[in-house]
Amino acid sequence: MQNKEQNRTTGVSKAIKVGLFQFEPVFGEIRQNVEHVTDSLANIKADLIVLPELCTTGYQFKSPNEVKFLSEDISSSHAVNEFVKLCKDRNMYMVFGMAEGANGAFFNSALYTGPEGVIGVYKKAHLFFEEKFFFSPGNGGFPIFQQNGVYVGLMICFDWIFPEVARILALKGADIICHPANLVLPYCQQAMITRSIENGVFSLTANRIGEEKRGGKDALKFSGKSQVVDPRGNVLFRLGEEETVKVVEIDPAEARDKKITRHNDLMEDRLPELYGKLTKVSV
Ligand code: ACM
Repeated sequence: MQNKEQNRTTGVSKAIKVGLFQFEPVFGEIRQNVEHVTDSLANIKADLIVLPELCTTGYQFKSPNEVKFLSEDISSSHAVNEFVKLCKDRNMYMVFGMAEGANGAFFNSALYTGPEGVIGVYKKAHLFFEEKFFFSPGNGGFPIFQQNGVYVGLMICFDWIFPEVARILALKGADIICHPANLVLPYCQQAMITRSIENGVFSLTANRIGEEKRGGKDALKFSGKSQVVDPRGNVLFRLGEEETVKVVEIDPAEARDKKITRHNDLMEDRLPELYGKLTKVSV
């Protein structure tokens, strides 16, 4: 496992194929959801595929017991085993969301896996709505990982509304932000265009589709429209609200040119000495 937190300004230019799989998990049916993913991606030709947040379990938990029952330890997880097998078979990398159980706590996590196994884990820091009742917030910061010269940062869904997350990932050197999501508010897809522009990075938002209404809870309608955005804010594709797998070719090295004009650089022109309030607990 490599966790590179270094700046790098140059890189070999090499196009890679990145893609998203947007679908509707069936709540609580981990094996069925995993099989649906492995069947749907059995013939995929891609270097990196991103799946939605909590894509093995579904989203709307009714009780802490349900979270406990459906959370998996990464080292013995059926989903992780099957997805690593798929990565080996297709010689590709995957980012996907799952409910993680670790040391008696439960996390809404994103995993980065490849033919070599689990490369990285990010535990969601900014919990949305009732997630606060069911998951612990991750406090491990915002890691990036490097494989084959490509620097990948992970964030999950509601992290989008805190621009600090994407900024930190970019400062650490991410070329590509992989962003599993279960979006119910209507703002994120447009906002991620800005996250890409302001940080000069690719963003891959893999959202789910469908609706969940469990117990007496309000219905949650997930908005689909998963998308890939380039470092200049071009939407390379945005899906509709149907199940879809889609791949596009990108050159990650495009994310290493942070110049926005001949005289402006997104990273070098920052004035952190003026931003002190951003890191103060009380404003
Ligand atoms: C969300 O963070 N799942 C909206």
